[in-house]
Amino acid sequence: MDIGFLLNGEPVRVRPDNPTETLLDWLRESRGLTGTKEGCNEGDCGACTVMVQDADGIRALNACILFLPQLDGKSVRTVEGIRADDGGLHPVQQAMVDEHGSQCGFCTPGFVASMAVAHANGQTDYDDRLAGNLCRCTGYAPIIRAAKTAQSAPVPQWTRTDPSSVEKYLGGSAKGVGGSAPLLPDSSDELADLYAANPEATLIAGATDVGLWVTKQLRDLDPVIFLHKCRDLQQIEDQGDTLRIGAGVTIARLWEAMKPLYPSFAEMLRRYGSVQVREAATLGGNIANGSPIGDSPPPLIALGATLHLRKGDNRRNMPLEDFFIEYGKQDCAPGEFVEAVTLPKDQPNLRVYKLSKRFDQDISAVCGAFNLTLEGDTVTAARIAFGGMAGTPKRASALEAALIGHPLSEESATRASAALEEDFTPLSDMRASASYRMESAKNMLLRYVHEMNGTQTSVLEVTP
Ligand SMILES: Cc1cc2nc3c(=O)[nH]c(=O)nc-3n(C[C@H](O)[C@H](O)[C@H](O)COP(=O)(O)OP(=O)(O)OC[C@H]3O[C@@H](n4cnc5c(N)ncnc54)[C@H](O)[C@@H]3O)c2cc1C
Ligand code: FES
Ligand code: FES
Repeated sequence: MDIGFLLNGEPVRVRPDNPTETLLDWLRESRGLTGTKEGCNEGDCGACTVMVQDADGIRALNACILFLPQLDGKSVRTVEGIRADDGGLHPVQQAMVDEHGSQCGFCTPGFVASMAVAHANGQTDYDDRLAGNLCRCTGYAPIIRAAKTAQSAPVPQWTRTDPSSVEKYLGGSAKGVGGSAPLLPDSSDELADLYAANPEATLIAGATDVGLWVTKQLRDLDPVIFLHKCRDLQQIEDQGDTLRIGAGVTIARLWEAMKPLYPSFAEMLRRYGSVQVREAATLGGNIANGSPIGDSPPPLIALGATLHLRKGDNRRNMPLEDFFIEYGKQDCAPGEFVEAVTLPKDQPNLRVYKLSKRFDQDISAVCGAFNLTLEGDTVTAARIAFGGMAGTPKRASALEAALIGHPLSEESATRASAALEEDFTPLSDMRASASYRMESAKNMLLRYVHEMNGTQTSVLEVTP
């Protein structure tokens, strides 16, 4: 199986021995391109950030958890290929020099890749754009200054020519089936056939979980089926009252889709991993992994989302909460995959709160999603779901029952919050103790009540 892509503007063809060879290893070990650094090797530090471009645009991705087959038909630029059109320094590189944005320099190639992507896309929200790049030496002020300094410089021409060259020379070259070759279906129909015939295969969507199985657990995965070429799984369909979101939609695109509909959900997604993680991670992967601390299930459950599963030609639908049976066990048969999620568009009372040790780029200790229906002052219906409180993302049914029929006041919420102890027996782990989790969940309910009664509760939103 051949993979074809542009590397720093030049077409390359690769026949990976191993379908889960990472781009980072290949760049450094097979190509001698050691500018791209290995820091954490798990998607956290951004030292390995590269620019990846295709027909959908230009993105910053972590090369340490990106497998070579995921690059087929794309263009990759490493720090060695990020330059001005005259071969000199790219405006962000020059600005890093001028503003003293680098000391030991270890993080610098990754920062430059992220900054060059933001520069090409005209994105100036640098706190978000650079949250996935960690620097131990410089402090971030000179780096942010550099990004701002470069902002108005012209974007190099190669960012426009790379994508057309990819299509001209390389597009859609990979197609291997069986043995140790990866399976690369082009559509969900093809995926359904392949997976039904190879139910032992590991599905790989964005690889932000599976990448770590390879780099940290050193697992050999064979066979694998990559989902990234199934364009029909990447659609967001407006169906009038509902939105159908394909399993292959990235968290970055989900964030954009949620901004106008559910700002509180969108604000939580802003803190989901980093830009590099959100641009790779998919909604389907975030649900299918069954993680008790996955961030999208609590709000989707609180919205009453429906999950669409498919195996071969058979499809079935279920309320999302029913998918999560117990820790590590989902209602998903061998050869069955997540096709999409449908959610309503008319739930203005949804609020989502993510609590993590660090504000940016951290996994939740507790994630709470609240969606109450009110008639006058009285709660008439309730959907409340938590992550981090049990072995699965789970509805707080006792709390819901305790709230219904009562006014949405601090007093009744404080009384009802005792019901959370019937709903959950949280664990203590490195993220939080059981009692802290319980206390925080109760406080999230109080926060919701204050917010629904018009009090500003986010310190980030308080303006002088
Ligand atoms: C640095 C870092 C930060 C992170 N931060 C967060 C965070 O803040 N919040 C959070 O919730 N998660 C976070 N994650 C976890 C991860 O990003 C998510 O779980 C992600 O959504 C997984 O999606 P993916 O497409 O990368 O899945 P993959 O890694 O490709 O797959 C994950 C699992 O789902 C299966 N799978 C994938 N797609 C399908 C499908 N369509 N049908 C059936 N099975 C499928 C795979 O076989 C695998 O078992 C983080 C990860 C990293 C590395
Ligand atoms: S090496 Fe740290 S994100 Fe890749
Ligand atoms: S300059 Fe040393 S880690 Fe950033």
